[in-house]
Amino acid sequence: MNSTRRSFDEQVLETLVAEATQVRLRAHAPYSQFQVGAALLTASGHRFAGCNVENASFSLTICAERVAASTAVASGQRDWIAIAIVSPGGVTPCGACRQYLAEFGQDLLILCVDVQTQSVKRFQLSKLLPHAFDLNSLP
Ligand code: THU
Repeated sequence: MNSTRRSFDEQVLETLVAEATQVRLRAHAPYSQFQVGAALLTASGHRFAGCNVENASFSLTICAERVAASTAVASGQRDWIAIAIVSPGGVTPCGACRQYLAEFGQDLLILCVDVQTQSVKRFQLSKLLPHAFDLNSLP
């Protein structure tokens, strides 16, 4: 499995975290009260933000990561290099989001940020979802 470690501009990552922190305030989370913001960075420097959107029909809820990812795809930007996820406690993405993100590359840097303490945990997607099922898995 190809795994590339690239160097990141820390200032750009700070901007990404700030954007995820901002968009988190737009989360629609009346059922869980668990607000999440995400911001995705592309290789060309574009950023795409998303928040979780819950629904009275609970299973229709969509996570912040998938909103950001879908917005990027709809904008024609699929070359992702990092995503910042801001939440209470700085949780790691759920299994569904790991799979969703892995579709477009597994070297993605994931920053999980605790909204209260601002503490940041860094992961590579391939470490959170090893042996991912993707385009290459299909005959
Ligand atoms: N949620 C996210 O948006 N991203 C995550 O990484 C974890 C969970 C949302 C889904 C739901 O609206 C709420 O958080 C509680 O699970």
